[in-house]
Amino acid sequence: MQRAPRWWQTGVIYEIYPRSFSDANGDGVGDLAGIDGRLDYLAWLGVDAIWIAPFYPSPMADFGYDVADYTGVDSLFGTLDDFDTLLAAAHERGLRVIVDYVPNHTSDRHPWFIESRTSRDNEKRDWYVWRDAGPNGELPNNWISMFAGPSWEWDETRQQFYLHTFLKEQPDLNWRNPATRAAMFDVARWWLDRGVDGFRIDVAQMVMKDPELRDNPINPKPDQAHRLGSWDTQIHLNDLSHPDMHELYRSFRSVLESYPGDRVSIGELHHPDFDTWAAFYGERQDEIHVPFNFHLTYSAWTADAVRAAVEGVQSALPPGAWASWVLGNHDQPRFASPHRAGPDQAKVGMLLLLTLRGTPTIYYGEEIGMVDVPVATEDSRDPVERREPGRGRDPERSPMQWDASPNAGFAASDATLWLPIAADASSVNVASQSEDPASILTLTRRLIRLRREHPALHTGDFERFGPTPDGTFAFRRVSDEGRVTIVLNLTGEPRSVPGAGPGRTLIGTHGDRDGEPVEAAVELRPNEAVIVEHAVAT
Ligand code: NOJ
Repeated sequence: MQRAPRWWQTGVIYEIYPRSFSDANGDGVGDLAGIDGRLDYLAWLGVDAIWIAPFYPSPMADFGYDVADYTGVDSLFGTLDDFDTLLAAAHERGLRVIVDYVPNHTSDRHPWFIESRTSRDNEKRDWYVWRDAGPNGELPNNWISMFAGPSWEWDETRQQFYLHTFLKEQPDLNWRNPATRAAMFDVARWWLDRGVDGFRIDVAQMVMKDPELRDNPINPKPDQAHRLGSWDTQIHLNDLSHPDMHELYRSFRSVLESYPGDRVSIGELHHPDFDTWAAFYGERQDEIHVPFNFHLTYSAWTADAVRAAVEGVQSALPPGAWASWVLGNHDQPRFASPHRAGPDQAKVGMLLLLTLRGTPTIYYGEEIGMVDVPVATEDSRDPVERREPGRGRDPERSPMQWDASPNAGFAASDATLWLPIAADASSVNVASQSEDPASILTLTRRLIRLRREHPALHTGDFERFGPTPDGTFAFRRVSDEGRVTIVLNLTGEPRSVPGAGPGRTLIGTHGDRDGEPVEAAVELRPNEAVIVEHAVAT
């Protein structure tokens, strides 16, 4: 007998970057009380869970991904009481709460690192990855930081290098040390005891490296499409995804499953090849519950590339496994930006995201079609922009656009914001779109509801469809109780897709085709996508 689907399979997740979502105290930076004040909106939208990016005490060298205390709240975001209040308020509304778990590195101000760097014989000496210099002062190996430059920093006191896959203010933890691992598992238990519904695991594939720290091979064909700059000059054979990861995530999952209530692990996994990514489900699907899949964020927004991404993921899934999908996040240019899919395709993307088989995660603001807000290198907040201009992530982190007031309802009108608001915020915002039947917000809300109510979209299988005409992509979702075909036009010209009918349209991106009969072909206007429902044989 098939097991009933878990909430994290059928549910929709919503990512909140806390600095940018809602500012309750007027300091120009979002906070936990701000999120609390927006829970009714999220419940209205219909999402099932929120994932909140780090809000822990941090010097903010990487805006919270440099954690100085895993079991607290930075005063910028509020207090632990604010977190408990938010958690209870979310649960009251049926919303689950997922917090970020940052296992690869701490801040250099974390007490563990402060102790570790005091000497070569202190109790925490092996909690981080320390190595001697070569005979002529050489670095331990050729590894490079994801944020540019070597990933080794010299420490005067220990007269050794320490490893940092990101900034030098983010030293890598040594997960091969049982004491480190036990402490980090305790961190997870601490939040689970508080009642969180799961974790998004930061750079999940990086935690275990080659124990011999061998050099990486040089990449003969760097692929700048992923915006990784100098990181792409190597093949990351030895500094991530060591096979020992799998045992680690099996153990981590057993921690989660020792708690009641379907707690979930969501892994941030950047693997352009389908099989390495799919391996994180585990041979018995006992590792990461939801390995994030970034194939739609890597692919060009063309019908061929999207088809290859969707069908590639579906084929790579281990039998019975459940996919996941995202269009963007706080590290990727926003989907609706002209340099990604463009504003005309925003609704097409949303319709795809919410009809695919697999857990969708919406990045805050995608539901109103927010686009990147340019920030000049000299004004940038993200350290990555200053290290490698063009790679900065400020543009996708601009404040949420709630209404047409001066600070877009994100913060008090007289607050000085940590990043600028989009120039179009007075027209592109939640307030204006919530009453507009043709808005992307209305579409998103309707799609979330339809996904929950329609058996084929809720749990149905994925079936390939086609070939379809140039610039279009279609697929089917099929269950015993329902059959639908999703037909997408990724071009700015009309397209006719033969064989997608007969049936009737359920929802279309333009908001004006509900219940329309469809003959054999589906006629699509420019930048249009529709869901066609077929009669089920009785
Ligand atoms: C991935 C996070 O999403 C990103 O924002 C952060 O800079 C790195 N991991 C380092 O923690």
